[in-house]
Amino acid sequence: MSASVIKVETQDHISHQLIIQRPPSGLSLQGRIRVPGDKSISHRALMLGAIAQGETQIQGLLLGEDPRSTASCFQALGAEISELSTEFVRVKGIGLGNFLEPLDVLNAGNSGTTIRLMMGLLASHPGRFFTVTGDDSLRSRPMSRVVKPLLQMGANIWGRKDNTLAPLAIQGQALQGIHYHSPIASAQVKSCILLAGLNTQGETTVTEPALSRDHSERMLRAFGAKLTVDPETHSVTVSGPAQLYGQTVIVPGDISSAAFWLVAGAIVPGSDLVIENVGVNPTRTGILEALEMMGADIQRENEREVAGEPVADLRVRSSQLKSCTIAGDIIPRLIDEVPILAVAAIFAQGKTIIRDAAELRVKESDRITVMVQQLNQMGANVTELPDGMEITGGTPLVGTDVDSYTDHRIAMSLAIAALNASGITTIHRAEAAAISYPNFTSTLTEICQ
Ligand code: S3P
Repeated sequence: MSASVIKVETQDHISHQLIIQRPPSGLSLQGRIRVPGDKSISHRALMLGAIAQGETQIQGLLLGEDPRSTASCFQALGAEISELSTEFVRVKGIGLGNFLEPLDVLNAGNSGTTIRLMMGLLASHPGRFFTVTGDDSLRSRPMSRVVKPLLQMGANIWGRKDNTLAPLAIQGQALQGIHYHSPIASAQVKSCILLAGLNTQGETTVTEPALSRDHSERMLRAFGAKLTVDPETHSVTVSGPAQLYGQTVIVPGDISSAAFWLVAGAIVPGSDLVIENVGVNPTRTGILEALEMMGADIQRENEREVAGEPVADLRVRSSQLKSCTIAGDIIPRLIDEVPILAVAAIFAQGKTIIRDAAELRVKESDRITVMVQQLNQMGANVTELPDGMEITGGTPLVGTDVDSYTDHRIAMSLAIAALNASGITTIHRAEAAAISYPNFTSTLTEICQ
C-alpha cells in the first residue's frame, strides 16, 4: 500500500489524528486478516473467571481499553489475573460471594458492559461497600436501567441524579429473586440481573422484548450455572446460589470489528478480503443479514464451533449495494454496527431507512446525531430521525475534518467512509479506536493496495 493513503499524527500525548487520502490511481482492499477478540465475550470471560472456583484460561482475549478496565476492577475485588495477552490469560477465581471490599473506587473507564454487569455482582455481595464510576462518557450514560431492577431485588444503591448516573455507591445485600420484564432488549441489563441472581436464593428471571446477545447465557452454562431459556418469550432464568467452576474460554474474533472490513470490502471497488475466525453467534449476525439485504457479496467459509460459540471465516468482495429498511427485532442483533451500516448506505442506490434504534443515543456518544453530522460534513445526504436515520445513497463524499467524539465505533466508521472520499479526510480523536480495536490502523494500512 502506498504510504500516502494513511497517516497518523499525534497531537499531544493522548490524541491522534488519522489522515486518509485515497490515491488518484484508486484503491482496493485485499488480503486475509484477523480481527481482535470479541469484546462482549472477553468481558464475560474475565468476570466469570473471577467469580468461579479454580482457574480459568482465556485464549484470544481482546486487549482493548474496555477489557483492561474489567480486569483492573476484578483484580481490586480479589481475583488474580495474569498479565493480559492475546495468547493466554490465567484468572484465579475467588469463588462466588467472596469479593474483597476494594480500597478505592472501581473505575470502569469507557465501558458500559463493565459497570452494568459488575453492579449485579456487587449488589448481591452482602456486607461489603463498593463505589463505581467511569470516564466522562460513562458518567453521562443511563444507569437506571440496571439500578431499577436491582432495587426491586432489594439492593442498596445510591447515585447521582436520583440514582440514575455514576458515580454510584453500592452496599451489598442478600437479594431476592424477581421476574423482571425489561422494557429494552439489552444484553447488559439481562446479564446484570442474571449475575445478581447467581448469589441469590431461588429463581431470577429476565424477559426481554426481543432477543439480545446471549453470550452470558452460553458462558454461564459452561461454567456450571443452572440456567433455563424460553426462546418463545425471550426469557432466561437462573437458579441461585450457583457454583461456578473455572473453564477454558477461546474468544472468537469480534463481528463488530469485522463489520468495518465487511463494509469496506463491499464499497471499495475491486476489493476481495477474507476475515478469519469471526464469531457468528446468531444473536450478533444482524450485520450479515442487513448487508446481504443490500446486495453485498459475503460468503461464510469454514464454519465451525469453538468453545460453545459458532465461528466462520467471512469473505467479502465489492459489489453495487442497494438500499433497504433496517428496523424491528433485527436492531438488537446489529446495534453496534449501525454507524458502519450508515456508511454502507451512503454508497447504496436509493434511500436506506434505519428505525427503532433510539438506544444509539445512549451509547459511548449519541451515535445518531454524531454520525448524521459527521457524514453530512463529508457531503452525504443523511436525515436524523428520533430513532434512526434516513440515508439517500449516491452522493459523492469529499474529504474534510471530522471528529470521533471519543467514540471508537464512530472513529472507525469515518475511516472507512474516508476510503471512498475524494481529497483528504482528517479524523480527530481517532485514538478512541483502541477501546475495542487497538491495531485498527495497522490492519487498514496492511489491506490497502
Ligand atoms: C453489550 C451489549 C450491548 C452493546 C455493547 C456490548 C454486552 O449494549 O451495545 O457494546 O456486551 O452486553 P446494550 O446491552 O446496552 O444494548
